[in-house]
Amino acid sequence: MRGKDLLTLADLEPEEVALLVESADELKSGKTSRPLEGKTIALIFEKPSLRTRVSFEIGIRQMGGECIYLSQSDIGLGVREPVSDVARVLERLVDGIVARVFSHRSLEILGERASIPIVNALSDLGHPCQAVGDLLTVYEHRGSLQGLNVSFVGDGNNIAGSLALGCASVGANFTVASPADYRIPSMVWEEAERRAALSESRLDWTPEPSEGVREADVVYTDVWVSMGQEDESAARLEAFSGYRVDEALMDKAKSGALFMHDMPAHRGEEISEDMLDHPGSVVFDQAENRLHAQKAILARLFS
Ligand code: NVA
Repeated sequence: MRGKDLLTLADLEPEEVALLVESADELKSGKTSRPLEGKTIALIFEKPSLRTRVSFEIGIRQMGGECIYLSQSDIGLGVREPVSDVARVLERLVDGIVARVFSHRSLEILGERASIPIVNALSDLGHPCQAVGDLLTVYEHRGSLQGLNVSFVGDGNNIAGSLALGCASVGANFTVASPADYRIPSMVWEEAERRAALSESRLDWTPEPSEGVREADVVYTDVWVSMGQEDESAARLEAFSGYRVDEALMDKAKSGALFMHDMPAHRGEEISEDMLDHPGSVVFDQAENRLHAQKAILARLFS
């Protein structure tokens, strides 16, 4: 770890990403310790959540800890009082903060102003916990990560960026097929390129979905309009209209390719009606694996 926080996968050395996947896999087979015994974690959520909130709450309890859920209407992060004041109050009362925020900058301020560990539970820039769970899912289904071809189709958003960093860290090849105006932000892409060079994996972009999924072992997509982007809906639905993942696109990937989505999924937008039930779909494994991945992350931060 480069510090006390996990705000992006870039906070982990590349080899630590693979180690987290391994320890998540071990935790899944039942070896849970209780490093959070006597500790309390605050869960700050500025946006709605199903998988992230439930898996953190359950995971913290399984590891012996307690948690307090703080919604935006409870604390008004950055509205009722500055993020830095929230950080300085909470560090006196709890042992760690898991936060889902609109602006990644809020996480950085929490990290700078509080002495306790901060975990990114999704920001506009990234979703590192999702990426660790997703790598675990691919590892379970394929037995390894190195040299696999992972293709992301759609918006170069928080999910795509963290997945790019994760794949590049563990030596999986990563291709993103997105419109030129919706590429993964250059700051994230450049770090992924640096990691891909170290792991000798490939990192590619194409505007063409069928080109993007050629030779893919995994086809991944996410919503076209992320939380907080509702004002851009019309422009986004138009820009991504050719990027829907359906059976015909899956047929262009390797035979038996996995289909992945972090959910919630919008049938008729980024996926066709039946994609979640496609024979290659592992979306519910992904949802479960959030629990195991986050327990591995918490164990790493609190042991
Ligand atoms: N890109 C989506 C992910 C939701 C888990 C969003 O930020 O809304």
